[in-house]
Amino acid sequence: MKEKLAEIKKAFIERAAAAESEETVEALRVEFLGKKGLITGVMKLMGQLSPEERPAFGQSANEVRNYIDSKIAEKKKEIKALELEKALEKETVDVTMPATKVPEGSLHPLNKVTEEMKRLFIGMGYEIAEGPEVEYDYYNFEALNLPEGHPARDTQDTFYITDKMLLRTQTSSVQIHVMEHKKPPIRIISPGKVYRADNLDATHSPIFHQLEGLVVDKGVTMGDLKGTLEVYAKAMFGENTKIRLRPHHFPFTEPSAEVDVTCWGCGGTGCRICKGEGWVEVLGCGMVHPDVLRRCDIDPEVYSGFAFGIGIERTALARYGVSDLRQFFENDVRFLEQF
Ligand code: DAH
Repeated sequence: MKEKLAEIKKAFIERAAAAESEETVEALRVEFLGKKGLITGVMKLMGQLSPEERPAFGQSANEVRNYIDSKIAEKKKEIKALELEKALEKETVDVTMPATKVPEGSLHPLNKVTEEMKRLFIGMGYEIAEGPEVEYDYYNFEALNLPEGHPARDTQDTFYITDKMLLRTQTSSVQIHVMEHKKPPIRIISPGKVYRADNLDATHSPIFHQLEGLVVDKGVTMGDLKGTLEVYAKAMFGENTKIRLRPHHFPFTEPSAEVDVTCWGCGGTGCRICKGEGWVEVLGCGMVHPDVLRRCDIDPEVYSGFAFGIGIERTALARYGVSDLRQFFENDVRFLEQF
């Protein structure tokens, strides 16, 4: 029996020397020390020994078991250290290798023209005002001389949240918010999203962007409006750009005009961008209607003002020579990265 113990120990030493992974060492532990293991096996045979022989054998068996036990712990430690070393070796960074390039984003063309316009108007002393996109009918229509039933509402149908609340169709609503809280001199711009029940095509989108402008002070004239818009047009479309005011009707301005700029693509002779017109329409404007001022407690006998609403998509289309507005919303990086 003593020989059997010696054999077990010898076998263990050989097998342990060959073991290279944690799993094989664990398997060894089960094979030698487990409930059905070899050591337990010989222990069970102890009953065949005489009472005198038993203590000495028991001691030897325990020694072998302790030996195997500590060797296994040692071996496990060794393997762990080795694996860590291997992992570290694999992870060494070669600092001389070329770096992987992180793709860099850029401003969306609509944000880019908006930022440029903001900078331009801030440079002329304007402040930025914000208004809600979910708006009361009062601010979007009624206070702008578009009472319920007014036919001009038909061209600006929108999503109604309640009878009195809607997604704003124009940033002109911000004019009212500003004049309710601030008295002249007022000089603000307000860029933002607007919503209309229009189908998406090359020149229409149910969501688009405007930049509203409002100036109210003593002695503000149409000449000031025209001069301001000339500065805008030259900054956005180039020094040689001319503007043209066409009489129009907006209920909240009197007189009102639509403004065209000479085409950025051809300078006025006619091309694909302006569809042969030589001119591109970019905004609506006018002198603030006395009733609008009065509604906001500003005396039209003392103060006058001008307002304008610039189409941001239109500006971007003309500016970059893009022919289809949908491209701004399709998020195709090949298109967007060109700006
Ligand atoms: N809100 C008008 C529109 O969406 C544009 C506009 C016209 C704004 C005249 C103005 C203005 O401030 O004075 O069609």
